[in-house]
Amino acid sequence: MINEFATWLASTRANDVVQNVTWIIPTVQSVHIVCIAIVITSVAMLDFRLLGIGGPRQSLADTARRFLPWLWCGLVMLALSGSVLIVGEPARELQSSVFWLKMTLVACAIALTAVFNVVLNQGATFWERNRVIAVVTGVVSLGLWLSILAAGRWIAYAAHG
Ligand code: HEM
Repeated sequence: MINEFATWLASTRANDVVQNVTWIIPTVQSVHIVCIAIVITSVAMLDFRLLGIGGPRQSLADTARRFLPWLWCGLVMLALSGSVLIVGEPARELQSSVFWLKMTLVACAIALTAVFNVVLNQGATFWERNRVIAVVTGVVSLGLWLSILAAGRWIAYAAHG
């Protein structure tokens, strides 16, 4: 199923354009990398605040208000730029188990961040009152996002292996 989809994608005009217009791949890769920096910085600011080791002068609610929009917008841009990279090299991405590991981790990280966001919206003090839950959430979140980072880079090495 996935193999057939990858073969079909490779035969499309969109694949032809991404492969042959020389500026597209470097530009889209650069956008992906800038958005990785935006997302990881936002995640670090939030998670260090959750762990209680950063930004103590700002409440968690204020930190979240400042960085969550960057995180969500950065993620949308990552999904869009990542999709163009998939269109350009469908077999390399869709037939790679590391790529699917990364997508699974992205789904888990989005789910955890969404839960954090919803709980925060319901009562700004929840995370301040439940320190153990806050620390566990911060550690799991950092672990997930850093694993996504590693998996993203790892795809290139797994592709020819
Ligand atoms: C949201 C959906 C995402 C999609 C569809 C996506 C897709 C891709 C694709 C297709 C590549 C090229 C891999 C290759 O062929 O070597 C890539 C590279 C990469 N991605 Fe993503 N990605 C997404 C999100 C993320 C996120 C959230 C992060 C980390 C915060 C991330 C980190 C990376 C890294 C580090 C690379 C390697 C960049 C390089 O060395 O040029 N990606 N991504």
